[in-house]
Amino acid sequence: MSNESLANLLKEERRFAPPAELAAHANVTAEAYEQAAADRLGFWAEQARRLTWAEEPTETLDWSNPPFAKWFADGKLNVAYNCVDRHVEAGNGDRVAIHFEGEPGDSRSLTYAELKDEVSRAANALTELGVRKGDRVAVYMPMIPEAAVAMLACARIGAAHSVVFGGFSADAVASRIQDADAKLVITADGGYRRGKPSALKPAIDEAVAKCPQVEHVLVVRRTGQDTAITEGRDVWWHDVVGRQPAEHTPEAFDAEHPLFILYTSGTTGKPKGILHTSGGYLTQAAYTHHAVFDLKPESDVYWCTADVGWVTGHSYIVYGPLANGATQVMYEGTPDTPHQGRFWEVVQKYGVTILYTAPTAIRTFMKWGDDIPAKFDLSSLRVLGSVGEPINPEAWIWYREHIGGGSTPIVDTWWQTETGAMMISPLPGVTETKPGSAQRPLPGIAATVVDDEGREVPDGGGGYLVLTEPWPSMLRTIWGDDQRFIDTYWTRFEGRYFAGDGAKKDDDGDIWLLGRVDDVMLVSGHNISTTEVESALVSHPKVAEAAVVGAADETTGQAIVAFVILRGTASEDENLVADLRNHVGATLGPIAKPKRVLPVAELPKTRSGKIMRRLLRDVAENRQLGDVTTLTDSSVMDLIQSKLPTAA
Ligand code: WT7
Repeated sequence: MSNESLANLLKEERRFAPPAELAAHANVTAEAYEQAAADRLGFWAEQARRLTWAEEPTETLDWSNPPFAKWFADGKLNVAYNCVDRHVEAGNGDRVAIHFEGEPGDSRSLTYAELKDEVSRAANALTELGVRKGDRVAVYMPMIPEAAVAMLACARIGAAHSVVFGGFSADAVASRIQDADAKLVITADGGYRRGKPSALKPAIDEAVAKCPQVEHVLVVRRTGQDTAITEGRDVWWHDVVGRQPAEHTPEAFDAEHPLFILYTSGTTGKPKGILHTSGGYLTQAAYTHHAVFDLKPESDVYWCTADVGWVTGHSYIVYGPLANGATQVMYEGTPDTPHQGRFWEVVQKYGVTILYTAPTAIRTFMKWGDDIPAKFDLSSLRVLGSVGEPINPEAWIWYREHIGGGSTPIVDTWWQTETGAMMISPLPGVTETKPGSAQRPLPGIAATVVDDEGREVPDGGGGYLVLTEPWPSMLRTIWGDDQRFIDTYWTRFEGRYFAGDGAKKDDDGDIWLLGRVDDVMLVSGHNISTTEVESALVSHPKVAEAAVVGAADETTGQAIVAFVILRGTASEDENLVADLRNHVGATLGPIAKPKRVLPVAELPKTRSGKIMRRLLRDVAENRQLGDVTTLTDSSVMDLIQSKLPTAA
């Protein structure tokens, strides 16, 4: 990124100090940065002691064969024991682990003691079904407690789970089952989505037909809908798990024993099976959940709105919170069923104190209107988290004002499926926050921004985000493909991990994420990030959401094309396009003015909420649309195309 264009970009000057009360009692203070800077490995060795080890590790990091790391390699532990049993043994068996809220309004709460029984029964059932240490189990579930139980049962017996998001197609499931060579699939008849039961089992039947290695399918009854059962292969959870004893002795496994494989939802190429292991992963998931959310397990009610099918659900619904003995809410459904205030109703009902959600959700709530959250009591909230993509300053401010009552700190957490846990984030009791910036690497994490040649950029400069030291929850490899692991992450910049994100450092050295590097445009020789133009557009009062792409242009190389969703009441008058162009010009500089601005009703998003700019680029360049199968709703593309004049 050229410094010239950077100087124009994003002049965000608002600052928010941590609330004094929170700072005074914060789990982690500024001292953690100093301690970790003085002795990084010593710092992580200390964090590993948050866990209960069957054999305490004496080694911290083995980096003798980079980029293949081993953390705490001579330690042994059982991850499920750490997430469940030890809390019961410590006298907290009656504490609620999960308040489950079903979409139709059914609810139930599971204590840690009940969770221990359920995980033990499920572990016994998996053993009866022939699953052994080292095997792989595919999990394809709605957001119900059994999803977490299934994952923990696998961990308990040393089988790696591969959770496949319930919105994925039969083909996507089949390719993941095959790649991981899973012998058991755990699923449900269906789950509730948008007010009705949505079947899951038919996709598994179709997938398993192509996967002869699958011996059994274990099916949870959630919706009660008609479900085909293949005799000899399929078994009901309530039968097989239900009749098991609630006693199960957890075996201790090596710290580097595989815990799970999770496929990244790449838009190109074969999906990558990201492999995570046990001791280092759990250490960083637990530490970051404790530090970044300031979790007080005795009093907080935590809610992460992600699906267990994404890494956020793995690390911040299952492993981090449960390792920390947290009480959390798990919600099955969509945010607008039966009404657009559903999230806020849930916050009010359970007295949620910590909420972790995604910018795409926040922008949707903004679009629905301020009056909706205003109808609910959100005063219990004390920390708000964001994850998944850069959060525009306007969405950040809206989140703080309308959800956080104008006082709640926001932690914008940067990380990836590959990093396993949070890497760059404010600490709520320490950091003076800046809307739109993830700011500093967490204690014990080393990250910086480099230019094309791999030279660290000075403050004020921009380039690529790299991680410069190994970290406990790092991916260990790509399942079955060590070479692709090396090529994808460790080759672009020698000895450093290439995250694939553009970033800049501000004058204080704080990091601003700019989106995937494939989302950087080159306009008349200037690198301009799609994120920054989108942020500028969303800061205009009439714009709720924006997606920006670079389209091939004869004169400027690429031209900026913006797709915008207007706010509820805004109308599409003739000055709008000129206003928005000028607004971007005034915010970022004339070079960043979009050539075209197209108001649209919806934007194409993947099931994890990421905007599919590739498709918008196809539209902007008048091409036939590429693959739309990972879209939540492919009809949005017809709508968008119908808005366009036929000639560019
Ligand atoms: C990519 C990783 C991390 C769990 C969910 C997504 C983007 C994620 C942020 C953030 C800016 C962010 C990056 C990253 N991203 N969090 N706070 N600020 N960008 O996991 O599907 O593996 O995606 O999401 O581009 O590389 P993922």
